[in-house]
Amino acid sequence: MNDNNSQKSFSLLFDEDKIKASTPFIHEYEKLMAYYRCAIMEIETKFNVLNQEFSLRYDRNPISSIKSRLKTPRSVIEKLERLDKAFTIENIESYLNDVAGIRVVCSFPNDVYLLANALLGQDDITLIREKDYIKNPKDNGYRSLHLIVTVPIFLASEKRLMKAEIQLRTIAMDVWASLEHQLKYKKDIPFTSDMENELLYCAKLSSELDTRMDNLRKLTNN
Ligand code: GTP
Ligand code: MG
Repeated sequence: MNDNNSQKSFSLLFDEDKIKASTPFIHEYEKLMAYYRCAIMEIETKFNVLNQEFSLRYDRNPISSIKSRLKTPRSVIEKLERLDKAFTIENIESYLNDVAGIRVVCSFPNDVYLLANALLGQDDITLIREKDYIKNPKDNGYRSLHLIVTVPIFLASEKRLMKAEIQLRTIAMDVWASLEHQLKYKKDIPFTSDMENELLYCAKLSSELDTRMDNLRKLTNN
């Protein structure tokens, strides 16, 4: 991406969202976001390498897809407001863990832990926090393994440690989470407890699907 263009697009994004910010601030913001983008690239590459190695060894891909995103300026501001922190470059780096987000969708539950352990075993990755919503699903049924890590990015004359949020989940977990998100966040209609229970039931079905598929995987020695 060309620097002038990305600078311009961030100014536009700030304008469109009616976010007041000085040109030097927007420039610093743009620079920080470029670093987060580099962190996303580093982590995506690490997963692609693991996928490659695994597919050579076992003749199948543990990763179904990788989706990454950079938090929008609007969500950055809203999250800082919730934390009662000012919208500054320092606060973004100190208090937000999920500016860089990488979602790794795996084939089987076993692959989630295999990939997570392989990543965490790398000497340049530091685990800050882990939330295992697979072993301990959220009350609504949500399942995924969340890792907050730091990864170094190497610039011309400095090494910088960047934070990133990695969500690892199976295809079945991803289907449930994507549909739950669509149902809840795109509509103004409130969720009744019957609807919550139905979602929880769907989460149980998805968990059973994972277990059964994983059993089939074991039978095929994959
Ligand atoms: P955030 O303020 O949302 O970042 O929450 P948190 O700091 O408590 O982190 P947590 O690890 O619980 O969740 C972070 C992210 O996981 C969310 O931004 C979503 O992408 C995903 N997530 C967590 N809970 C749910 C859920 O119930 N449904 C869906 N669809 N996604 C969820
Ligand atoms: Mg978040």
